[in-house]
Amino acid sequence: MPPQASAPQTQPTAPTPPVAHAEAPKPPVPPKPPKAPPARSERRERASRSEEYYDTKTTIFSALIDAIDLSQLAKMDAESARDEIRDIVNEIISLKNVVMSIAEQEDLLDDICNDVLGYGPLEPLLARDDIADIMVNGADTVYIEVSGKIEQTNVHFRDNGQLLNICQRIVSQIGRRVDESSPICDARLPDGSRVNVIVPPLAIDGPALTIRKFKKDKLTLEQMVQFGTISPEGATILEVIGRSRCNVVISGGTGSGKTTLLNCLTRYIDEDERIITCEDAAELQLQQPHTVRLETRPPNLEGEGEVTMRELVKNCLRMRPERIIVGEVRGPEAFDLLQAMNTGHDGSMGTLHANSPREALSRIEGMITMGGFNLPSRTIREMITSSIDVIVQAARLRDGSRRITHITEVIGTEGEIITLQDLFVYEIVGEDANGNISGRHRSTGIARPAFWDRARYYNEEHRLAAALDAAEVEDVEGSDSFGG
Ligand SMILES: Nc1ncnc2c1ncn2[C@@H]1O[C@H](COP(=O)(O)OP(=O)(O)OP(=O)(O)O)[C@@H](O)[C@H]1O
Ligand SMILES: [Mg+2]
Repeated sequence: MPPQASAPQTQPTAPTPPVAHAEAPKPPVPPKPPKAPPARSERRERASRSEEYYDTKTTIFSALIDAIDLSQLAKMDAESARDEIRDIVNEIISLKNVVMSIAEQEDLLDDICNDVLGYGPLEPLLARDDIADIMVNGADTVYIEVSGKIEQTNVHFRDNGQLLNICQRIVSQIGRRVDESSPICDARLPDGSRVNVIVPPLAIDGPALTIRKFKKDKLTLEQMVQFGTISPEGATILEVIGRSRCNVVISGGTGSGKTTLLNCLTRYIDEDERIITCEDAAELQLQQPHTVRLETRPPNLEGEGEVTMRELVKNCLRMRPERIIVGEVRGPEAFDLLQAMNTGHDGSMGTLHANSPREALSRIEGMITMGGFNLPSRTIREMITSSIDVIVQAARLRDGSRRITHITEVIGTEGEIITLQDLFVYEIVGEDANGNISGRHRSTGIARPAFWDRARYYNEEHRLAAALDAAEVEDVEGSDSFGG
C-alpha cells in the first residue's frame, strides 16, 4: 500500500501508515490535512529523538508494510503478531544495512509495533499506571494528569492523520466511526479506560482525544486516609453510612474522585445483598458476589438502539434489587433513582456533578424539572428530602490533591427550603511554599446525626459515636486557631 498521497509534502516526517490494523484493514476517512497545515514544519524536537531516527523508521516502516501480509497478521494474537513484526523488522534492518545501537533498535521495534498493532505514540502513556487522564489536543499536544497535576508530555503524533487513524481504531472496537458526519464518540479501550473523541470540524485544531485511565486497583478508604483525602474519623463515618444503608449522593467536579469514592463505599455493603449497578461505562468494581452490572448503550450509526440511563434504572426496579447504584446521574433518571430510594431500596447511591451539597440538590431538582415531570418544585423538594440521607462532597483542590470536603445530611424541608446539616467538613488552613494546601477535617460538633437510629439498627452506633467523639477532640485542640 502506498503512503498516503494526501499527506502534505512539506512535512518531512514519515508518511501516514496505511491502517495496518487487525480490525480495520481499510483506511478510514482519508485524513484531511488541516486547512492551513500547522506551522509546525519548523520541526519541533520530538521526544528526544533525532531526525535520522524518524527517517530510518519511515524507511523501515514502508518496507515492512510491503513485506507483511496484513490479513494474516489480523488473524494472529497480539503476542505472535508482535513476534512476527519483530522478525521482519530485524531482517529489514540487516538487509538495508541500517546502523543503529541496540537500544535504538529496541525503541524502533516498539514504536513500529505500537503503530501497527496498538495506539501508536499513546502506548507508552497507556502502559503507565500513575497516569489518571490522557488529553490529546491535536497531533502535537498531549497532556497527562499525574498525582492530580496536569502536565504536558513530549509525545507527538506524526500528524493529525495518524491521530485520526488511532481515534478510528479505538472507536471501531465498539462498532462506531468518527468522521465529519458523526464527529463525536464515546468509547472504551479493551482495558476499560473511558474514551471521548471529537474530531474536526467540531474540534478546530485536530482530533481531540480524552482518556480516563482505568485503574484496576481502585483506591480504598484506608489509602484515602493515608493521602489525607479524609481523616480516619471521617472514613469511619463513611463506613458506617455505607453499612447502615443510608441513601447517598456523591457530589463533585470533574475528576474529583466521585467514582473512586462510590467504589469505596460499596465495599461496606454486605455480601448477601443484591446490588444492581447502572453505568455509562462500567468503572465500578464491586466485591459482592450478588451483583448485576448494567451499562447504557449509545445509539448506533443510524441513530438507533440507544438505551438510556433512565431506561436502565427503570428496568432495575423490576429486577428485585436491594440496592441500586447509579454511576453518574445526569438526567431524568434522577427521578427514578429518588423513587427507588423512597420505595425500600435503602442504601442506593449515585454520583453527580456539582460543587457543593446545596448545588447537588438544585442539580437534582433541575434534572427532574427538565425531564418534563411537571411536578411543583415543593413536591420535588419533599421527594428529595424523603429519599436522600447523605451527600458526600468530593473536590480536587488547586494543588491537585483530592479531598472530601463535606459529609452533609439532608434533614427536611422548612417551607420551600431543604435543610442541610454538615456533619464533617474540610477547612483549608494555609498553603506551604510549594503550593501544597494544608487543612483539616473536623466534625461540626453534631453528636447525634439524623441517621443515628439507622446506624443503631445496624449495630453501628458505637463506632459512629466514637468517630464523632474523636473528631470533636481534634476540634477542641485546634480550636484556638479557629476561634472555636
Ligand atoms: N482521593 C484520591 N487521591 C488520589 N487520587 C485519586 C483520589 N480519588 C480519585 N483519584 C484518582 O483521580 C482520578 C479520577 O477519579 P474518578 O474517576 O473517581 O473521578 P470522577 O469524579 O468520577 O471523574 P468524572 O467526573 O470524570 O467521572 C482517578 O485516576 C483516580 O484514581
Ligand atoms: Mg466518575
